Amino acid sequence: MLPESQSFDRVLSSMCTKPHPEAVEAATRYIATNPGDPSTFPAVSRLEDRAISILGEITGLSSPNGYITAGGTEANIQALRIARNAHPVQNPNVVVPESAHFSFQKAAHVLDLELRTVPVDDQYRADPKQISRHTDHSTVCIVGIAGNTEYGRVDPLSQLADIAYDYQAIFHIDAAWGGFALPFTEHDWNFSDIPVDTMTIDPHKMGKAPIPAGGLLVRSEELLDSLAIETPYLESSSQTTLTGTRSGAGVAGTVAALEKLWPSKYRSIVNQQQENAKWTASALSDRGLDVVPPELPLVAVDLPNNVFNELKSSGWRISRTSRGELRIVFMPHVSRDMIREFLTDLDRLLPKTTSN
Ligand SMILES: Cc1ncc(COP(=O)(O)O)c(C=O)c1O
Repeated sequence: MLPESQSFDRVLSSMCTKPHPEAVEAATRYIATNPGDPSTFPAVSRLEDRAISILGEITGLSSPNGYITAGGTEANIQALRIARNAHPVQNPNVVVPESAHFSFQKAAHVLDLELRTVPVDDQYRADPKQISRHTDHSTVCIVGIAGNTEYGRVDPLSQLADIAYDYQAIFHIDAAWGGFALPFTEHDWNFSDIPVDTMTIDPHKMGKAPIPAGGLLVRSEELLDSLAIETPYLESSSQTTLTGTRSGAGVAGTVAALEKLWPSKYRSIVNQQQENAKWTASALSDRGLDVVPPELPLVAVDLPNNVFNELKSSGWRISRTSRGELRIVFMPHVSRDMIREFLTDLDRLLPKTTSN
């Protein structure tokens, strides 16, 4: 007998959340199907088309191409693979802000690309001047982050797209986490706002689909086809995916979540979590703490090390940014009551430890 699965009651650090119950049911029903073999499993293959079509709607891409990946990591690897294939140059490089997720390091290793990691500005956003300075004619891709992992910041995407255009590089947006929040903000971030070539947007993060469900979207069929590998023993002729056999659970769970929640339920989740994030940021500031205020629903706060460690030992699932702040990701399962409970624990620890 396996132990109880873990609850989300004290999880503040995760970029994943409790999936929607209907998405879990759909994932369970399709768990033994394989969208990697569409002629044997046509039903799940049709569902994948539906998933990509709704993701296209969310991201302003009218004839979307792409597929449901294992997660943001696979989508980012595949985007860089597209970029490398699109521009066969010697010693290709990719320019990313230092706020980019570590999946780009994996991608660069796997694809043997030089990864140019560029300092961000004082608001933790990509700095177009610095990005431009590090770009040259061997740059195959510039990456902009729409909701970075540590601070939830949105890069100046239009400016980065212009730089990519000047160097004829692929412009990739990593909206793995932010992609389900940004449609309800004023940001220019999607395929219809700016000339984006490829995008990562993960249903298994803010989209409330069960893991594994990442998303890779590609502006043109031609770009996606640059990934195609022939599949001799299958009835379908080629695969553009990185993995071969994939569980249909991610695909079915994605469609169920999207059909249930897009757009109105996602809007109310995002609005509520944005309110919770602002409320928490001001509650933390009121306690004299240094807070990085939210742009999307994510707050970072400087805490003494021992307070952080005590909170962790009392069961809070928390993590630190690379600069050491505690980060709270306001995923759909994070309620105001949960934050009140967290603040009560924090108040118990703060006076004792800060006076040390
Ligand atoms: C912005 C961003 N990109 C990519 C990833 C990687 O996604 P995954 O863990 O699903 O592979 C994450 C994970 O948190 C992320 O925040």
